[in-house]
Amino acid sequence: MEIELNMVMMMMMMMMMIFVEGNRDTNEVYDPCMDSKIQRSEGFSFGIALSSNESFFSNGTQLSPCDNRLPIYHGKAAVFAVFRPMVDEISLLNVSSSDLDPAAMGGYMVAFAGKKYAARSQPIFVADDTHIVTSFALVLEFDRGTLVNLHWKKFGCRECGGDQSFVCLNNQDCAVQRSKCIKQGGSLECHLSIQLTFSGTDKNLNTLNSWYELNNLRHNSLLRLFNSLTNSLLN
Ligand SMILES: *[C@@H]1O[C@H](CO)[C@@H](O)[C@H](O)[C@H]1NC(C)=O
Ligand SMILES: *[C@@H]1O[C@H](CO)[C@@H](O)[C@H](O)[C@H]1NC(C)=O
Ligand SMILES: *[C@@H]1O[C@H](CO)[C@@H](O)[C@H](O)[C@H]1NC(C)=O
Repeated sequence: MEIELNMVMMMMMMMMMIFVEGNRDTNEVYDPCMDSKIQRSEGFSFGIALSSNESFFSNGTQLSPCDNRLPIYHGKAAVFAVFRPMVDEISLLNVSSSDLDPAAMGGYMVAFAGKKYAARSQPIFVADDTHIVTSFALVLEFDRGTLVNLHWKKFGCRECGGDQSFVCLNNQDCAVQRSKCIKQGGSLECHLSIQLTFSGTDKNLNTLNSWYELNNLRHNSLLRLFNSLTNSLLN
C-alpha cells in the first residue's frame, strides 16, 4: 500500500459473500486512502480503524484516519484492516485476529475511504473492560460513484433475544459480557463481524439497492440467515 498506515498488528480478514454475482473487478484503486469512482459489480476498498474515540479527532474536528494530521495515521495506538467488498452486494466482513483486543486499542471503530473526500464514519463503541459488541451493520453511501458517507446502523436490542450472554447497552447495542468470551475463559467466540451494504448511485447513475433490500428482508429470511451466522459465531 502506498499509504504509510503502519500496520501495528496484522489482522486476519475474511469476507463472506452472501450474494455472488460475476466478479468483474474493474476498479484499479486498491488503496483505501485514494479516491475512486465505482460502478456496480466491481470491488471497492475501504478501511476500518480501531482506536480510542479521542484519537479520531484533532482540535475538536473528526478527521479521516487517512489524514496525516492524526497521530493514528502514523500507526500510533491503532489497528487497521482493509476490506474489498463487491459494490452493491451484501457482505459479512469478519474482523478477526487471535491477539486483537479492541478494548486495549481504545474501544472505538471508524470506517473510512478516500483522500480528497476523506469520508469517514462516526466512531462507534466496540468494547470496554467489561463488554464487547460483536455485530455491526455498515452502509456505504455513494453519490455518482464517489463515497460520500459511511453510516453505522443500529437495530436496537430486540435482537439480543432472551439470551443470557447478551447485555443491552444504552438501549441500542447487544453486547457480550467479556467474561463469557473464550479469551477470558468463557465459551463464546467474540469476533467482530460487520454486515455491509450499499446505497446511493454509482458513476453510471445506477441506484445501489443492497441496503434497501437488506432493510426490507431483515424481518424475513435474511434475518434468520444472519442470526444463524451470529449464532455460529457466538456459540
Ligand atoms: C468522542 O470525542 C469527541 C471529541 O472529543 C466528543 O465530542 C464525543 O462526545 C466523544 N464521544 C464519546 C462517545 O465519548
Ligand atoms: C488548533 O486550533 C488552534 C486555534 O484555533 C490553532 O492555532 C492550531 O493551529 C490548531 N491545531 C491544529 C493541529 O489544527
Ligand atoms: C471469523 O474468523 C474466525 C477466525 O478465522 C473464524 O473462527 C470464524 O468462524 C469466522 N466467522 C465467520 C462468521 O465467518
